[in-house]
Amino acid sequence: MVEESLETTVRLNNGVEMPRLGLGVWKTNNTNAKESVSSAIQQGYRLIDTAKQYGNETGVGEGIREGLEKTGLDRKDLFITTKVFNGDQGYQSTLDKFEGSLKRLQLDYVDLLLIHWPVDGKYLDTWKAMEKLYHDGKVRAIGVSNFDVERLQNLLDHAEVKPVINQMEFNPLQQEKEILNFAQEQGIQLEAWSPLGGGAALNNPTIQKIADAHNKSTAQVIIRWDWQRGIVTIPKSAHPERIAQNSDIFDFSLSDDEVQAINDLDENKASIWYQDFGWYEPNGGVDTGSVDKWDDSPADYDK
Ligand SMILES: NC(=O)c1ccc[n+]([C@@H]2O[C@H](COP(=O)([O-])OP(=O)(O)OC[C@H]3O[C@@H](n4cnc5c(N)ncnc54)[C@H](OP(=O)(O)O)[C@@H]3O)[C@@H](O)[C@H]2O)c1
Repeated sequence: MVEESLETTVRLNNGVEMPRLGLGVWKTNNTNAKESVSSAIQQGYRLIDTAKQYGNETGVGEGIREGLEKTGLDRKDLFITTKVFNGDQGYQSTLDKFEGSLKRLQLDYVDLLLIHWPVDGKYLDTWKAMEKLYHDGKVRAIGVSNFDVERLQNLLDHAEVKPVINQMEFNPLQQEKEILNFAQEQGIQLEAWSPLGGGAALNNPTIQKIADAHNKSTAQVIIRWDWQRGIVTIPKSAHPERIAQNSDIFDFSLSDDEVQAINDLDENKASIWYQDFGWYEPNGGVDTGSVDKWDDSPADYDK
């Protein structure tokens, strides 16, 4: 049997190998991002998920630099994801602003670049720019996030390079069956954001019962469930002990009945909420200053 670990990968549809479990850093300021990324790399994590929107690419870049220094690993041992900010979408702007992400991350390429949200009227041009970055070797793989079936089909109808990933909100209470099925039919890997449901799923009694039976935490049961379902997962924690706990999922497995009991928790709610954004209408005006600011210090992103 092949041993499972944080280095276990899935082969994406362009042949690139992506670690199946990583660290997310949303709602983390630059100082904490540096600490959690560095700690995660030292604990064996290889996949890190950030975005310009999170306002912490600088901290992530520092964490990568420190993590590599302390472990002696090479850049190529890591898999770094960032995302095109809504306010940067469009062809030329995506190309120009991508350079800022590279600079903040202290990298000369990223492994995966995602469209953060599908800005209607722009995402096809954004994709063209990402195809150029892909062909130019600045990114090893390109994908999308928060695309429903209609928008993903539209992208597929126009794309030259097929997306490798759709990163969606996905957790036991919110399983996005239609989007997952479509992605699987198309050979597009689903990646779960908010896998712990931002906390809500951690208190579920069914999951607690399964956790007690395995002497594990509810977070570990959920992450193991994702693992067994073949979903790439990026739980976030700013605490080294939780970062360790969230990766300690390779010494137990869930039975088919336990996986099914968690599958049955789906509340069948649609999670995408395009209409709440200012950019829902084509050219509806994007607030380019809306990068998340978790720091009191001056923002460290380009406008
Ligand atoms: N593409 C998108 O639009 C999108 C949207 C949202 C998120 N994401 C990505 O997905 C990642 C994960 O999603 P998320 O950050 O929203 O939520 P999450 O990973 O589901 O949950 C994070 C929350 O759970 C807590 N937590 C983590 N491990 C725990 C444990 N073992 N026990 C108890 N509590 C624990 C964390 O607290 P502490 O930090 O205090 O430990 C934090 O409050 C993000 O960081 C980001 O990289 C992408």
